[in-house]
Amino acid sequence: MLLPPPAPARVRELLGRAGQPEVLRFWEQLSAEERRLLEAAVQQLEAGPLRDHCQEAAAAATARHREQGQGAAPGGGGGGGTHRNMQPLPGEVTGSTARTEPHRLDNWRDRGFHEISENRVAVLLLAGGQGTRLGVSYPKGMYDVGLPSGKTLYQIQAERIRKVQQLAEERLGKKCVVPWYIMTSEFTLEPTKKFFAQHNYFGLVESNVVMFEQQMLPAVDFNGKIILEQKGRIAMAPDGNGGLYRALMNNKILEDMDRRGICFVHVYCVDNILVKLADPVFIGFCVEKGADCGAKVVEKAYPTEPVGVVCLVDGIYQVVEYSEVSQETVEQRNPDGGLTFNAGNICNHFFTVDFLKSVTEEFEPQLKRHIAVKKIPYVDEQGNTVRPDVPNGIKMEKFVFDVFQFSKNFVAFEVLREDEFSPLKNADSAGSKDTPSTTRRALLWQHYRWAVRAGAHFLDSNNMRIPHLSQLQEAEELPAVCEISPLVSSEGEGLEKYLKDREFHSPLLLTEDALVALGQHQ
Ligand code: UTP
Repeated sequence: MLLPPPAPARVRELLGRAGQPEVLRFWEQLSAEERRLLEAAVQQLEAGPLRDHCQEAAAAATARHREQGQGAAPGGGGGGGTHRNMQPLPGEVTGSTARTEPHRLDNWRDRGFHEISENRVAVLLLAGGQGTRLGVSYPKGMYDVGLPSGKTLYQIQAERIRKVQQLAEERLGKKCVVPWYIMTSEFTLEPTKKFFAQHNYFGLVESNVVMFEQQMLPAVDFNGKIILEQKGRIAMAPDGNGGLYRALMNNKILEDMDRRGICFVHVYCVDNILVKLADPVFIGFCVEKGADCGAKVVEKAYPTEPVGVVCLVDGIYQVVEYSEVSQETVEQRNPDGGLTFNAGNICNHFFTVDFLKSVTEEFEPQLKRHIAVKKIPYVDEQGNTVRPDVPNGIKMEKFVFDVFQFSKNFVAFEVLREDEFSPLKNADSAGSKDTPSTTRRALLWQHYRWAVRAGAHFLDSNNMRIPHLSQLQEAEELPAVCEISPLVSSEGEGLEKYLKDREFHSPLLLTEDALVALGQHQ
């Protein structure tokens, strides 16, 4: 039998210089097509950076192992205490929807709408993640959490963009566009493109939806060796949502923003069902403050909630992970009883285009690499695919918020969790936090509150009015189901004309075309 040709010299040489010749260990068993694909994958990589990446991952794994051996709490508060010089956010850089007088909120809203109407605002979606915890085989944005309308996260977001454009036009009498930049990865680009095309871009103009791809990096084992997920296929993972900055550069996205005259960018995660797209109040607040970088935050739900906290460390703005803070610091309270470190990061940011330029041109190489230890399917020495029960490998990730330290004028803006934050992270089977059920409930509670505020009444099966209830806890059962299309109302405004003093059976669906009482309405 004829032996296949050896791997091309340049491929062997590249892997040799990177210290990864084992990647070719199954070469002779591969089909011609598999060899072609492996060769192409290797040629995407550069020897020097690849060697550094693998060595850095192995060193980080060793350090972490050592720390855990010394009793630091893995992933939990109370062990780390590495940040002794933490300071809470100063009042002068922090705004709040709950503690600001209505007329000031209106001023910020006016300013935000003004910028939007001048075509200076874009939104940027981080949608390159693999959504492993949710466990579906398609991008998370395509997920339907089970709303009466059956809308997916992508559709909800698209409609919110259409609505904010429409509101800006109505207020300022000018047609405007909020372009939607969507960062995808090898996993999410093709299905996302196809989904948008199938749905006619959800009513947006195709040229105003700009998809681009982030970089992928090889996953490595604890010895710093590249993991093969198949005999001829390297296990690759996107480089974290902080891969944004490199992706902006590689895909010339800031040039596209310049061409369109964009000055301000609202960056957000795909999985927050309550996200306000190009929120005029947040944009207006940041612009009025002259900020180059801003973060929306929510109050922590309880002291040990495992969210990052936006704060100062040695005078520098950053997000400190829960696992890095001592129990004492987590529990620390102000004289008024509130938690001292209370600004929970929700991955919802404002950046000026100039700031993004300074990051991409100057600071990107300084971004910290974070280690994520994961269960990564691999091929054993016999070439069989193994799905490990325990973590066996490392992905290195950058985080989008690690640029706060480079800001010259940082601000934070506190919003109400029940109005703005409910992320989809886990499958329903995995527990009760951040699941399809909790996100669906959060949205339906919000719409129920809006409906009641607008004067609607809901009836039970005996046509008796259901007493209005306020939401006491996230898990609270809804008195009635009501979903309001983002095309009808963006934050509960303008609903009286449909709902005031009227009675409805649940579930009620309010669409741009009509009130569709899925029950009957009077
Ligand atoms: P998460 O850290 O929650 O990751 O991402 P994930 O991929 O959605 O889910 P798991 O951890 O695999 O279960 C927060 C946001 O950052 C984006 C995600 O798409 C999500 O909007 N992200 C994450 C990227 O855009 N790129 C990445 O490499 C990682």
